[in-house]
Order: sequence, then structure tokens, then C-alpha cells
Amino acid sequence: MTEHPFTYRLELPTDSVEIETLHAEAFGPGRFARAAFRLREGIPHLPELSFVALVDDTLVASVRLTPILIGERSALLLGPLAVKPDYKGRGAGKRLVRKSADAARGGGHSILLLVGDLPYYGPLGFEQLAPYAITLPAAVDPERVLVSGLAPGVLEGLGGMARPIRSVPSGAVSDLRDTR
Ligand SMILES: CC(C)(COP(=O)(O)OP(=O)(O)OC[C@H]1O[C@@H](n2cnc3c(N)ncnc32)[C@H](O)[C@@H]1OP(=O)(O)O)[C@@H](O)C(=O)NCCC(=O)NCCS
Repeated sequence: MTEHPFTYRLELPTDSVEIETLHAEAFGPGRFARAAFRLREGIPHLPELSFVALVDDTLVASVRLTPILIGERSALLLGPLAVKPDYKGRGAGKRLVRKSADAARGGGHSILLLVGDLPYYGPLGFEQLAPYAITLPAAVDPERVLVSGLAPGVLEGLGGMARPIRSVPSGAVSDLRDTR
């Protein structure tokens, strides 16, 4: 195997079974109780912003982005991010995060949120806000709630409840994209 064996492309509908298997391997049955899962429960992710990594046509890693709200601001939840055990530590995870963030920025989105480790995601542009500035629909270590601003100043004043986009009262948000 070469040092950088991956090719990357957008997720296709035919990837869904392999991605579900990847999630089951990476997170186990407890994944359904995780705060991030609750945040995207029943909400379709955005295939145009969700990427996979392949090795010899086999899917070995995936990241998805899903629209959410933080307070009244539109944002994207990044995750799950998962890499098959045999392919960890070869850069696929970071590359997938960068690719999805670039695609989100290119699509006019301005805020990413995830639940994860700052030492991993910090160098990829994620940061903590004040503890509990953003609350989630399930218990989560506030130090693991991380955001990335995809344009200057967009994190200013950000806070409130992160929630699935479906719970928006009709007409409360005119556009899924944050236009600030
Ligand atoms: C976390 C995960 C996505 C990282 O993907 P990866 O392709 O193995 O990571 P990369 O190759 O991009 O980066 C590897 C580097 O990140 C570091 N790293 C991995 N996980 C880390 C973590 N949780 N915290 C801090 N650093 C971490 C590695 O030690 C390595 O450091 P090095 O480059 O100095 O050797 C992958 O290990 C995975 O699928 N884990 C199980 C599922 C999971 O926890 N997903 C994240 C949910 S938030």
C-alpha cells in the first residue's frame, strides 16, 4: 500500500449501506444515543457536501454534513466522520473534513458545528465557544462542542440551542444559509 492510497469523491446513494456499516464499526450501538446523532435524527444529510474516501474502489472513510440551526442561525453539523480501522492515521479523516468544509464554504454556508476532540479538530479550523454557549438536544461534554466559522466574523454572537432544522416554525428562517 502506498503512503496516500485514497481517492475522494462525493457520497453517492449507493454508498449508504457501506457507510452504515462503517458507522456501526466505528461507534457501535451506542451511536444512536449520541448528542450529534440526536441532532440529525430523521434529517437527511446533504450529499453534495458529504464525501467518501476509497481505496481500490472500496469505501474506507466517510464524512457527512447535515443542516441544523444554532439559535436562529443556520449551520451545518459535521459528522459522523469515520475511517476504517486499517486506514486510520493516513490523513483520510483530516482530508475529508477539509473537503467538506471547502464545499460548504463554496456553497455559501458559514458555520460548522461538531462534537469532537479539540486536539484533532482545532488545526482544521474548529474552536470552542464559551461553555454552554451552544446547547445540544442530549447531554454532551461542553468542551467537545466545537464550531468553525467559514467566513470572517460569523461566529460573533453565536449561541443558543442547536437543533434539527425540522423544528423551525414555518417562516422563522427564510433561508437555510446564513447570509451574514
Ligand atoms: C477520529 C478519526 C476520524 C481520525 O481519522 P484518521 O484518518 O485516522 O486521522 P488522520 O489520519 O486524519 O489524522 C491522524 C492524526 O490525528 C490524531 N488523532 C486521531 N484521533 C484523535 C483524537 N481523538 N484526538 C486527537 N488527535 C487524534 C492521530 O493521533 C494522528 O496524529 P499524527 O498525525 O500526529 O500521527 C478515526 O480515527 C475514526 O474513525 N475514529 C473512530 C470514529 C470517531 O471517533 N470519529 C470522530 C467522531 S468526532
